[in-house]
Amino acid sequence: MSEKILVLNWKSNKTASEAEKFLGEVENISSACRVILCPDYVSIPMCSKIVKDRGLNIILGAQDISRFGVGSYTGEVNGKALSEFVEYVILGHVERRTLMGDTKEVIKEKMKRSKEFGLKTILCVENVSELEDMSPDVVAFEPRDAIGTGKIKTVEEIEKALELISRETNTPILYGGSVDLGHLQSLLEVSDLSGFLIGSASLRVETVNSFVKILF
Ligand code: PGA
Repeated sequence: MSEKILVLNWKSNKTASEAEKFLGEVENISSACRVILCPDYVSIPMCSKIVKDRGLNIILGAQDISRFGVGSYTGEVNGKALSEFVEYVILGHVERRTLMGDTKEVIKEKMKRSKEFGLKTILCVENVSELEDMSPDVVAFEPRDAIGTGKIKTVEEIEKALELISRETNTPILYGGSVDLGHLQSLLEVSDLSGFLIGSASLRVETVNSFVKILF
């Protein structure tokens, strides 16, 4: 692996007090690596404060962004508000595509908003066509049948997908989908992989501490 990135996607799993406990227990990470923590909106400001106060080498990201700018959009969290706390935004996660109706057009608008407010994007894709007209900073290859199912893809399957994706983009490419400590060693054999996006495995601080030790 050349550049190493670990994205922790907490999804809608932790309360603010659980997030606080996690950040109180996570071991500090060497400055040579990029760990991007993506809590839900409610916990982001508090996580940002703890990261600063503890001097943790953790970058914050959001799990989504409003497709609209600042204004009368009840319930939305816009890029300007996010930019005070986070550096990255996850876009196009398969859960948003399938459960929340994020179409390609919506994702394109969200990408535009992210850039407008100076946020870097981590675009989750299942196939190369989802990269069309997109210009993300990081791509995560995320096959839907591997997400949250424990059914990890093989090294060969991931390498094949990565090869196709890397023909379309020069960005770092991550893999996501049921990555856990048990699979990590074999996944480290995947060539040209820049890191991982982890969901369930990101929830336990002991697991994250171990990930960081192995990866960095
Ligand atoms: P998982 O989630 O690690 O729990 O499969 C990954 C993801 O949502 O991308």
